[in-house]
Amino acid sequence: MFGVEITGLGIYVPSRKITNFDLEKIMDTSDEWIYQRTGIKQRYVVENGISTSDLALAASKIALEEARRKGVKDIDYIILATNSPDYLIPSTSSVLQGKLGISAGTLDVFSGCTGFVYALIVASSLIKSNLSKNVLLVGAEAISKYLDWQDRTVSILLGDGAGAFVLSQTNDKDKGIIDSNVGTDGTLAELIYIPAGGTKKPFDKKSLEEREVYIKMQGREVFKKVVSILPTEIKKLLDKNGLKPNDVDLYIFHQANIRIINTVVETLEIDKSRVYNNIEKYANTSAASIPIAFYEAYMNGLVKPGSIVLFSGFGAGFTWANVLWKI
Ligand code: ACO
Repeated sequence: MFGVEITGLGIYVPSRKITNFDLEKIMDTSDEWIYQRTGIKQRYVVENGISTSDLALAASKIALEEARRKGVKDIDYIILATNSPDYLIPSTSSVLQGKLGISAGTLDVFSGCTGFVYALIVASSLIKSNLSKNVLLVGAEAISKYLDWQDRTVSILLGDGAGAFVLSQTNDKDKGIIDSNVGTDGTLAELIYIPAGGTKKPFDKKSLEEREVYIKMQGREVFKKVVSILPTEIKKLLDKNGLKPNDVDLYIFHQANIRIINTVVETLEIDKSRVYNNIEKYANTSAASIPIAFYEAYMNGLVKPGSIVLFSGFGAGFTWANVLWKI
């Protein structure tokens, strides 16, 4: 059995910034309402003509450059988590591979905002079992393209961006994934969804008129579900590994809502200095939020070799996943 180490990190967000005050000008909302309910102050949104693979490319180039400086030569797999693919067919990881011009197998993970954590488990399994030496793992979203700017309940929540990890095999088997727990409640598939455009309700003129091509969400139900599941699941994972909440050096939660994160943190009595949040700056970037937050925490010196990190994702599906990781 091998260990897994992070040999490269990169992020990218588009340059077009939209603040809550900008939104006040186009819909019936306020900076105060948005900030108090969500912790969001601003988000970045792509210009026309820019797609998810463009954001993924920019983040990946930074991560790959660092990995190459550390001696990484070949990438065996590109695994990309997204909910806003360039196309329905083919996968966005294939498009990214073409743009990067490197030879690698490609796989998309399409599991809501939890996608990056699921992809981290898959990539780690490939490396630990020696099926792969190096994996480029990306969470990327141009999810603003699926926002209905006439729907103030959802459009204020999301933003675009990308984060990339290069994961590499190491003989230090203690490094990388320690354990994980995952779950899905598919009976809640329509809590967060895009009603039209798939095989159940193909895109047509009526679905466009009825605005069913945009993300719909029952926000209050999502909130209740997450805070009822996440503390119990995290506690189970920690107990199984003989850890107390404050034995974890850094918590990286999916940046969906600061009140959700604070509720989980208070329930588990986690010391707030162990939690890194940046939802204020980027809003919810869906599958990209965890790698973007980890990159910033890493750059701020919040982890060092031997640190224990807990990555915790939740979102559409309804899905959730937690990973315990040793740097
Ligand atoms: N500005 C001002 N008022 C608003 C806005 C807005 N942007 N949106 C809704 N309101 C109003 C509602 O119309 C309602 O008015 P009413 O009382 O007159 O009917 C009132 O505010 C309260 O609305 P609620 O929806 O009950 O507000 P709530 O406190 O639940 O906050 C929110 C809504 C922020 C969406 C919250 O439920 C939430 O964060 N849920 C979790 C969302 C989430 O985490 N999603 C993660 C996954 S996203 C993904 O996977 C792609």
